[in-house]
Amino acid sequence: MTHAKIPLAEGQILLGENLALLPVFADGCFQLIYIDPPFNTGRAQVRRTLRVVGDAAGERTGFGGRRYRSRVLGSSAYGDSFDDYLAFLRPRLEHARRLLREEGTLYLHIDYREAHYCKLLLDEIFGRDCFLNEIIWAYDYGGRSRRRWPAKHDTILVYVKDRGAYHFDASEVDREPYMAPGLVGAEKAARGKLPTDVWWHTIVPTSGREKTGYPTQKPEGIVRRMVSASTRPGDACLDFFAGSGTLGAVAAQLGRRYVLIDSNPRAVEVMRARLPGAEVKTCVEPAPRASDRRRGAGHVSR
Ligand SMILES: C[S@@+](CC[C@H](N)C(=O)[O-])C[C@H]1O[C@@H](n2cnc3c(N)ncnc32)[C@H](O)[C@@H]1O
Repeated sequence: MTHAKIPLAEGQILLGENLALLPVFADGCFQLIYIDPPFNTGRAQVRRTLRVVGDAAGERTGFGGRRYRSRVLGSSAYGDSFDDYLAFLRPRLEHARRLLREEGTLYLHIDYREAHYCKLLLDEIFGRDCFLNEIIWAYDYGGRSRRRWPAKHDTILVYVKDRGAYHFDASEVDREPYMAPGLVGAEKAARGKLPTDVWWHTIVPTSGREKTGYPTQKPEGIVRRMVSASTRPGDACLDFFAGSGTLGAVAAQLGRRYVLIDSNPRAVEVMRARLPGAEVKTCVEPAPRASDRRRGAGHVSR
């Protein structure tokens, strides 16, 4: 099938099913692709925005025993259950490879339940020698199971299009404090050290500037490292499971172009507010096939 290829704008947000939209882009037009697909948790991902006000008869107890009442202001949700997760991902990852420049890099953000299956799939699509890194993003949030080691990390698989040509500039990445600065001398301690493949970084703070209220929003700090190391100013970046548009926010801050795709109208609303300079388009979606409906692709209604 042939498709009209569209030129890239500075910043673009597309509402639509990614598999229907990816063929629209020409081969090799992105320097970086970051995707954070639904993790196949088997649950709908829901985030509620609450307003909490003081109320002696309220259902919540806060600091010093004060009582509060909460009111739900809104909620965002999307489906996250797939019968055959790899069959859902495969054609999208094949497009990802096609869309990367020879110097380009894919970052696939996934959790421990699917990471090993995705690694094998990417080895097949990109070739084992194009595997660059397995990044562990470690955070410390939420409950702690007493029945197993509490899972507090995500995995980011990094593949390059061409092992001999890829762009990676460690000097552009933010540095970390040494664990024992006294052992390395004042100059080195002041400069900090290069991050390794294990990134300790908080989740998006509940009341910070970054917070959009979209479920599973990822922190700008981790995405900024990827964009800084693997692109140059002016390069084009793509996220086709864009959610709240974290990749676009970082790309705009660093002077990179971006395309963000999501099938959930709520995600596009959030991205429009977060990136007022972006061009927003609603794309016609083909009726879902029976197999896609069984896999649960797409969003659930609010
Ligand atoms: C884990 S969230 C991405 C979160 C994002 N990284 C952020 O920082 O906000 C996954 C997103 O993929 C979208 N999605 C799921 N299936 C899709 C599909 N087939 N086409 C386009 N978007 C899809 C969901 O609506 C959801 O917003």
